[in-house]
Amino acid sequence: MKHLLSPQDLSIEELSNLLALAHDISINPTKYHHVCNGKKLATLFYEPSTRTRLSFESAMINLGGSVLGFSSADSSSAAKGESVSDTIRVISCYADICAMRHPKEGAPMVAASKSRIPVINAGDGGHQHPTQTLTDLMTIHELRGSLENFTIGLCGDLKFGRTVHSLIHSLIRYNNIKFILISPKELRVPDYMIETLKDNNISYKEVEKLEDVMTELDILYMTRVQRERFFNEDDYLRMKDFYILDKAKMELAKPDMYVLHPLPRVNEISVEVDNDPRAAYFKQAQYGVYVRMALIMILLGLSVD
Ligand code: NCD
Repeated sequence: MKHLLSPQDLSIEELSNLLALAHDISINPTKYHHVCNGKKLATLFYEPSTRTRLSFESAMINLGGSVLGFSSADSSSAAKGESVSDTIRVISCYADICAMRHPKEGAPMVAASKSRIPVINAGDGGHQHPTQTLTDLMTIHELRGSLENFTIGLCGDLKFGRTVHSLIHSLIRYNNIKFILISPKELRVPDYMIETLKDNNISYKEVEKLEDVMTELDILYMTRVQRERFFNEDDYLRMKDFYILDKAKMELAKPDMYVLHPLPRVNEISVEVDNDPRAAYFKQAQYGVYVRMALIMILLGLSVD
């Protein structure tokens, strides 16, 4: 049985098939409306979420399946002290597939080891967020027509941002991608990720000022400072508005430089940028439903003729 715990769980070929399926779903949605008739998705969310949980639910409903689950640890038996291992054994009796978000790194992996149904990591602490990466890859692919030969700036909280970690791990497998890592010193990507970039001979540089590199970028991936992972509120307050992408900065960028953001946005992208044709973050949220539909089908081994 296959789970999705990190983006590397899918080979490049599997990823390309998944993106092709997601693309077909986006242009022929009705063809897929009954693929999951009678199937159930459980969403086990021990941490807040809007997009990820609802996009999973929307994906399953679009496929004709049903959804069940909980949206906070307080409303599950975790509040009574139940372990993730026990919860997943029970959920395996109720559903055909599940998506789990947990504040602890590795919790979905523990669940997968005890599960009788496919487990999808919907975000584990500051570690990984593979389905956001599928969303990001589909967005880049749809906008640029390929996942090769571009320079991406990742900006904001690169230390705690799990979407950044998963995206880097995935993009290093494609040809000629250059990374520009834009963050305050305190929020640089973890050292193990720099090692990964070095070990794979990937071109990268770390900078602090967004303005300095704006002209070089083909994609700008903005992120929120991850307040919930800070130990100290003062540090958060000091860093939360370090980057604000506004119209003036967008004027420095290439005419076809797309802006992505996993959302939720706080202050890091000014609303005046939303009407810029290069702002792709709401489109990105729509692609999130198509990739999750494709993923559910693939993990359940379902197809349409
Ligand atoms: C992201 C997450 O949960 O890591 N959100 C999402 O799933 N779209 C990004 C974030 O919360 O900043």
